[in-house]
Amino acid sequence: MKTKSSHAEKIGSRSAGSTAGKSWQARIGDVCDQMAENFVESLSFDHRLAEYDVRGSRIHARMLAKVGLITQAELRQIERGLNEILDDIRTGQFVWDVSQEDIHMAIEASLVARIGEPGRKLHTGRSRNDQVALDFRLWCLDAGTKLHGAVHHLQASLLGLAQSTVTVAAPSYTHLQRAQPIVFAHEVLAFIEMLERDRCRLVDATKRTDWSPLGAGAIAGTTLPIDRSFSARELGFSGVTRNSLDSVSDRDFAIELVFAMATIAMHLSRLAEQWIIYSSTEFQFIRLANQHTTGSSMMPQKRNPDMLELIRGKTGSVYGHLVALLTMFKGLPLAYNRDMQEDKRLVFAAYDTVLPCIEMTAAMTEHVSINAMAMGENIDSGFPDATVLAEYLVKKGVAFRTAHQIVGKLVARCEHLGLSTLSELALGEFQGECPVIDKDVYQSLGSLNVLRAYQSYGAGGIKSVKKQIAWWQKTLKKTSHDMPFRA
Ligand code: ARG
Repeated sequence: MKTKSSHAEKIGSRSAGSTAGKSWQARIGDVCDQMAENFVESLSFDHRLAEYDVRGSRIHARMLAKVGLITQAELRQIERGLNEILDDIRTGQFVWDVSQEDIHMAIEASLVARIGEPGRKLHTGRSRNDQVALDFRLWCLDAGTKLHGAVHHLQASLLGLAQSTVTVAAPSYTHLQRAQPIVFAHEVLAFIEMLERDRCRLVDATKRTDWSPLGAGAIAGTTLPIDRSFSARELGFSGVTRNSLDSVSDRDFAIELVFAMATIAMHLSRLAEQWIIYSSTEFQFIRLANQHTTGSSMMPQKRNPDMLELIRGKTGSVYGHLVALLTMFKGLPLAYNRDMQEDKRLVFAAYDTVLPCIEMTAAMTEHVSINAMAMGENIDSGFPDATVLAEYLVKKGVAFRTAHQIVGKLVARCEHLGLSTLSELALGEFQGECPVIDKDVYQSLGSLNVLRAYQSYGAGGIKSVKKQIAWWQKTLKKTSHDMPFRA
């Protein structure tokens, strides 16, 4: 960026205070001091809205020309000026006037400097209040689309991992204690399910964001004959917001987006925690690729899962942004209040945190190695086939509660005899506890038998998981272009 600052972050650093050229100078005069100016500015962070601001202004100008509030010649000049501004911003040539308070003022001032009087007509029938509401909605729609793409990509990466682990027997856990055997792919598919709800939340939030507030003005609309529907259509929106007061005071579209991001972060954090445990020497279920681990400055043997830990850690800050936003809005009177300027800082920060976490998780998923040996080793110790033994008894006519007690005693018997699995127990021992047990019991015991025997829809056995994988293969092909808003 050319100027007084070559760095976006420096946009907010001001050297000399001035109220010269401020739009409200006629009313207030030269009273704003440097400290106050620095305090209220938002250009240092809302410069990220530049593309959307120019897009909104271009369409607003076309609308003004259409209804006769500016001439075609004036429109041409405004469009030329805005195009130049956009080119300059994109190529880093734009001279940021850091005495401008925000992105809207900075672009308008630059336009007036370039084309003169017609530039002073651009703000007809518009306020910064509806302008910022528009820009922010457009930004959120784009951010939602990018997040959606990243979540979809991660689902596809996880599906690849599920496909390669559909016959890998693994323990499942409740309370982090061995529960029942599953195939590892089942666990991977569980994360795809969570991400599917996240993906749908992004799509759903878009439906409420996709309404144009442009033309709501400062608060009550305008007496000028503007055509809000024209602007909305040209900008790609589904329609216009109904109530001008609500249009300039609503930010729940942004809060929803941050909530969707917080839920994504929470899911990624759970996956991270799972894999941190699995990559430990105690488990050794997975091995992260070298490029996704870091070493220790002192302990030469270490392969630390820092990326996963950071994904888990960053989740806390995303929750913070969500709570900050909700809190910020809870006491605001209608309609626009300057408090609302802070919303962008929070939403940008959440986005800048969550998007790389999704991408990092996908990269790690694509390169992780699964240790089927470690997962399968001693898989029957801890008696994960005990539930299936109780179900064997149910099939022989025993009431489940009674079966549960019998198996409980059999497990205790194994421990008493120093046996680590139920299959090692002699038939006589089984029959001593329950005479209906036959020698076919051994065909039900052991994880490999269990994995073949699961019958219920959505279960963690081989058959069911294979079906789910086939369903996801078809589904992911259909859902990649689900975002309703196309700019
Ligand atoms: N920079 C402001 C914001 O982000 C733009 C709207 C200013 N409106 C006003 N009435 N001061 O909220």
